[in-house]
Amino acid sequence: MDLQDAIRTRRMVRTFDPARPVPAEALDRILRNGTRAPSAGFSQGQAWLVLQGADLEKFWIYGSDAVGPTVRTAPLVLVPFSCKRAYLDRYAQPDKGWTDRDEARWPVPFWHIDTGMAAMLQLLTAVDEGLGALYFGIVPPQVQPFREAFGVPDDHEPIGAIAIGYDAEEGKRDLRSKRRPIETMVHYGAWGTHEA
Ligand SMILES: Cc1cc2nc3c(=O)[nH]c(=O)nc-3n(C[C@H](O)[C@H](O)[C@H](O)COP(=O)(O)O)c2cc1C
Repeated sequence: MDLQDAIRTRRMVRTFDPARPVPAEALDRILRNGTRAPSAGFSQGQAWLVLQGADLEKFWIYGSDAVGPTVRTAPLVLVPFSCKRAYLDRYAQPDKGWTDRDEARWPVPFWHIDTGMAAMLQLLTAVDEGLGALYFGIVPPQVQPFREAFGVPDDHEPIGAIAIGYDAEEGKRDLRSKRRPIETMVHYGAWGTHEA
């Protein structure tokens, strides 16, 4: 599939065909492409938990508060994690020199940005594999119970979850009318002008 087609046709899918599992090769490609994402200082402080079958039942105890019930039809959920410690370690190395590990040095949390970049690659790979996917949040009160249930290390933070499967939605949503006009989002040269 052409990149432009993948970007144009990607949309969040919230109902899946529960009878069709994600093929192993497709999952493998989704995961591998996630590891191709850029990362600050090449820190690569990302990890993913792959949940299918009985593991999914357990996931939904903690992961269902931000989505409707149809999302549970997904045969696969991927939970992406950011590891801030990996970034602080990497930037304390001699070529970076931030040995004080002061978090005030970070303009924004690069660890979450990088995990999000990987998630985007994974969403687009799902589209390219003919699959649908939904990125959604795990609500704050459920994060610690979720961590404990799956043995997640303390220094790994889930940034949400990605449900993946074959699209079984009826009646496609059309978000075109809701999309913000590009002129209100892009600023050429300085703020206050919308002209190219
Ligand atoms: C960081 C992030 C969090 C999101 N959280 C949820 C969520 O908790 N539940 C949900 O149904 N959709 C969630 N979405 C999906 C958005 O609602 C969706 O991307 C947006 O409405 C635009 O639709 P589209 O992605 O189909 O173009 C999330 C998307 C992002 C990027």
